[in-house]
Amino acid sequence: MERTLLIIKPDAVERKLIGEIIQRVERKGLEIKALKMENITLEKAQKHYEVHKGKDFYNSLIEFITSGPVVLMVLEGYNCISIVRGMAGSTSPINAVPGTIRGDFSLDTLKNIVHTSDCIESSEREIKNFFKNID
Ligand code: PPS
Repeated sequence: MERTLLIIKPDAVERKLIGEIIQRVERKGLEIKALKMENITLEKAQKHYEVHKGKDFYNSLIEFITSGPVVLMVLEGYNCISIVRGMAGSTSPINAVPGTIRGDFSLDTLKNIVHTSDCIESSEREIKNFFKNID
């Protein structure tokens, strides 16, 4: 069964959107295999975003994801990587359509409410980075 990592980012935690996002996940029928709230360390943030190292927005990404508490969830379900990316909506606020999480709650490319894994390789690497004792 496929798994994905969903991170509720610091902007969404500050805006009290945790419940809204978890409700969408549960209503969709996805299984929450693990869930925790924490302040991401610089080391874990750098590992998480290592594929973006060298891009002009890399430093802002690291600074933002470590700026406050986040909620991390491992979700499970058939094709859940694509399904959860669809629920999150496009990275670009212009393309994020209403009905998606970003389309409903964000106007920003950086402060964009959630992170979701983009493929199986990323999801395995990302889940391992944040959840040590998951079966
Ligand atoms: S890319 O360039 O195609 O790899 O970008 P993308 O996969 O769409 O986004 C990867 C993460 O980088 C963030 N991002 C940005 N932040 C700030 N400014 C700009 N211009 C920008 N472009 C992309 C985007 O929010 C993604 O964060 P995560 O946490 O992975 O969703």
